[in-house]
Parts: sequence; structure tokens; C-alpha cells
Amino acid sequence: MKLDSVLIVGATSAIAAATARALLGTCSTFVLAARNSERLNIIAKDLRSRGADAVLSMPYDALHDTDRDVVADTQQLLGTLPDAVLIAHAVLPEHDAIVHDAANAHQVLEINTVSVLALCTHVCRHFEQRGSGILAVISSVAADRGRRNNFLYAASKAALDVYLDGLRLRWSAHWPLLRVLTIKPGYVRTPMTAQLASMPLAARADDVGHSIAQLLRRGASGRYYIPWWWRVVMTVVRILPDRLVMLIRH
Ligand SMILES: NC(=O)c1ccc[n+]([C@@H]2O[C@H](COP(=O)([O-])OP(=O)(O)OC[C@H]3O[C@@H](n4cnc5c(N)ncnc54)[C@H](OP(=O)(O)O)[C@@H]3O)[C@@H](O)[C@H]2O)c1
Repeated sequence: MKLDSVLIVGATSAIAAATARALLGTCSTFVLAARNSERLNIIAKDLRSRGADAVLSMPYDALHDTDRDVVADTQQLLGTLPDAVLIAHAVLPEHDAIVHDAANAHQVLEINTVSVLALCTHVCRHFEQRGSGILAVISSVAADRGRRNNFLYAASKAALDVYLDGLRLRWSAHWPLLRVLTIKPGYVRTPMTAQLASMPLAARADDVGHSIAQLLRRGASGRYYIPWWWRVVMTVVRILPDRLVMLIRH
């Protein structure tokens, strides 16, 4: 698959930034969309200093730009559609603080789910018109089973998995050059998880970024757990009875 250019939404995320670095050498043009312009500039400068040909950035706030066609904006900037789109932004709420708070829950769903699926819809339209492209979305292993201390976040990601499963089937039936990659990391040490007391089996953002870049390079399509053995862990967690899942504290 061609991978000269990529649009990364939520580009200031630690995992997204690590993925961008790992794509250098394959990908020469980056369009970065995020809400923190200061951090975005630092990441753009770093990619340029490491050899990227072109790094363009644009503001994007999932709460205010929910329906914005960022893919069309990218096409305007580049004069062509990007070869791949990676969607990385999300929030991990403090569960106890949010479980009775509908306004906050709504905001989490707006950022993690509604804005992401709106973006996917734009990608779908543009990529189907062109007939090629890779759509990659960062979901989570958390989506595989609701647990007592994370079920809103888990639900916000599970919707992505189901949507992407269906889109993958649609594309594999009619568009052989379109790919849908659902990325499901386990625990990763990033600013998102900095407040968690313990993170069993946690990975480094750089290692996760490398794995995502590898999947993009080979045009992979499917649900991918990172590291791979989370697939085995979550297969077990999915079939455990509630009384055992109750005991999982993380
Ligand atoms: N870390 C883990 O253990 C883990 C595990 C599984 C899946 N994931 C997923 O991996 C992805 C990347 O997360 P990360 O671990 O790299 O954490 P991170 O560094 O905290 O990144 C989260 C990103 O989301 C952005 N964001 C939050 N609200 C936004 C909004 N309203 N509009 C636009 N952007 C917004 C943040 O932007 P600001 O910089 O402006 O805040 C930040 O760039 C997320 O989808 C996360 O759910 C993470």
C-alpha cells in the first residue's frame, strides 16, 4: 500500500507522536491535527528535524469540530487526499467522578465516540471516491469487556470496534485497496494513564508506536492487539463469569 502521506488526528497524543516518529523513512508528509497548538508545534519541529519532507498542522478540538471534514481540509492543504488517516484522540475519565454525571459522560462520548465516528464517515466518503487508503483508529483492549471501574470509557471504545468491523466488511467486499485497522493497545505509559496507581503489563508508547507503524506499512486490515498477547488475555477476560471479573481491580 502507498504510504507517503498521513493525516493524524489527536497528533499530540504520546502514542500518535511515537507512531509518527516510527513512520519516518516510509512516510514523508504529515498533516497533524490537535487542539494544543504549542505541543503540536514541538512535535512538528521534531519530525522536521528527523527528516520529514513536509509537516503541516491544523487546529482540531473534538468537542467543537465534531462535524468538521478534516479530510477535506487536508486535501486542500496537500492538493491530494492523504494515503492514510490515523485517529488517536480520546479521554480517560476518572470513573467514580463521572458515573453519576450525565453532562460529563456526554462529553466523554462526544470526544471518544461521536467525533471519531464522524471523522470515519468523512474518511469513508473520500476514500471510497478515490478507491484506496488506510483508516486506522486507536481503540483499546478495554472495549472487550465492561468492568466496574471503566465501563463508560469501555463503551465509548466498543462502539468504535463495532463500527470499524462493519466498515471493514463493506470495504473488503467492494474496495480491495481500502484498509481498516482497529488498534487495541493494552496499558501504555502516557499522560492519559499517569494518574493510574498501577498498570499491569504496561507498554512504552515508543514500542506501541513502532507496532502501529509496522501495521500501517504492511497495509494490515483487522483488529490488532498491541502487544499481540493482549488478544489471549482479553479472550479469557471475555469469557470469565461476572463474579471473577468483579475481582479485577485495574
Ligand atoms: N495509554 C493507554 O494505556 C491506552 C490504552 C489503550 C488505548 N489508548 C488509546 O490511545 C489513544 C492515545 O492516547 P495516549 O495514551 O497517547 O494518551 P495521551 O497522550 O493523553 O493522548 C490523548 C490525546 O487526546 C487528545 N484529546 C483529548 N481531548 C481532546 C479534544 N476534545 N479534542 C482533540 N483532542 C483531544 C489530547 O489532546 P491534548 O494534548 O490537547 O490534551 C491528547 O493528544 C487514545 O485513543 C487512548 O484511548 C491508550
